[in-house]
Amino acid sequence: MERKYFVNGEWKSSEKYAELYSPHTKELIAKIPQATREEVDEAIEVAYGAREKMAALTAFERSAILEQITQLFIIHREEAAKIISLEASKPLKYAYGEIDRTIETYKFAAEEAKRLTGEMIPMDAAKNGADRFGYTIEEPIGVIGAITPFNFPQNLVAHKVGPAIAAGNTIVLKPASQTPLSALFLAELIEQTALPKGAFNVVTGSGREVGDALVESDKVKMITFTGSPAVGKGIRNKAGLKKVALELGSNAGLIIDKNVDLSKIVPKCVMGAFSNQGQVCISLQRTYVMDEIFDEFIDQFSEMTKKLVVGSPFDESTDISAMIAASESERALEWVEEAVEHGAEIITGGKIENDVFQPTILKNVNAISKVSCQEVFAPIVGVSRISSIEEGIEAINHSDFGLQAGIFTNDIQTAFKASKLLEVGGVMINDIPTYRVDQMPYGGVKDSGTGKEGIKYAIHEMTETKLVVWNNQ
Ligand code: SIN
Repeated sequence: MERKYFVNGEWKSSEKYAELYSPHTKELIAKIPQATREEVDEAIEVAYGAREKMAALTAFERSAILEQITQLFIIHREEAAKIISLEASKPLKYAYGEIDRTIETYKFAAEEAKRLTGEMIPMDAAKNGADRFGYTIEEPIGVIGAITPFNFPQNLVAHKVGPAIAAGNTIVLKPASQTPLSALFLAELIEQTALPKGAFNVVTGSGREVGDALVESDKVKMITFTGSPAVGKGIRNKAGLKKVALELGSNAGLIIDKNVDLSKIVPKCVMGAFSNQGQVCISLQRTYVMDEIFDEFIDQFSEMTKKLVVGSPFDESTDISAMIAASESERALEWVEEAVEHGAEIITGGKIENDVFQPTILKNVNAISKVSCQEVFAPIVGVSRISSIEEGIEAINHSDFGLQAGIFTNDIQTAFKASKLLEVGGVMINDIPTYRVDQMPYGGVKDSGTGKEGIKYAIHEMTETKLVVWNNQ
């Protein structure tokens, strides 16, 4: 039951432990060490000490280590998926999907490690640049503090650990308090690779103790964080001059034009709104449907949603299970009640049954309701009627967030206009905003954060560009 955390290639006990419960069965599943400030500082010191060894590895060696991690996940796919279902209550079919993405993410990192290049600078383009030869080198920045969320406890860790290793950095990882077991499992796999001792460390505990120690340390050169806007802003305020990459979620929107084939679109919307209980930063939260097909869309969407299988995360047929905490289901319920007070109509769901918040579709949600203007992070989606595409674009942009948005349309001009006018980090034409593959640039504007993930882009964030100029005069 009592787990250890991982520093300098060794497993360590702590003085304090927190009990970890399954969100589904409510059973005690582990006791997790709560590292003290001194213990975090020791992990940072170790990562700091390992940075030269790590930076000295060749691209070939870094790539080979990442390939080893990839292969280990292929071998331990089932175990890794079951850990996710146990600690996060993610239905097993989605947990397998997450591990398959994790495998791809490390594979992309192994490939990108070999493509880390600088660029030639045309020095003689300047009046005073004649007879100079200039180029840039992407150098590792040193220790990276990675703070990761519960909703993808293995793949969103991979999005920080993979590029950090590819770039030649060392890492201190603080996983979400609800999902430390996946990160500790990763440490067990990394132990079996040729990664230098001290280059990868996992410290478990509270955000206040572990997170603050990472953010405030001068030896940590970058914080990469995925989580809530409130915590992200706090990190930015405390981080001083260190680099900060923040992926902070959204209230993702979708526009559905008239004259589209709803039979292809509706299954995607069900997946986008309800997979992982809606606990996804790009979960479909606001749907704007053209008047002509609004009623038909509502009928098909609710019919398909009602067929979702609600149950144990360990049952391979389950689509929806418990949210990460009972308090989160209660919050979701309060937000639905508020939306109803503001005039929304519940089409399906809107209640908790057997401890599971039921997949919920709301019609005619007021833009001031929390389920519309804040990040809902629950299986709740609003559907609103629009009479023009411009109205849909304006509604999506009327948000503090801007991570990804989608539009289904058969009109190329409409698609082009949406791609230009939507104020988000990524526009998905003929897809849901929830679409993501792991090599694409991923990151938002406004309160959705700063910096990009997606292996190549994250590697760039995790390096310093050094300029070298030769004078041949
Ligand atoms: C996220 O919730 O930020 C990640 C979504 C994904 O990787 O699919």
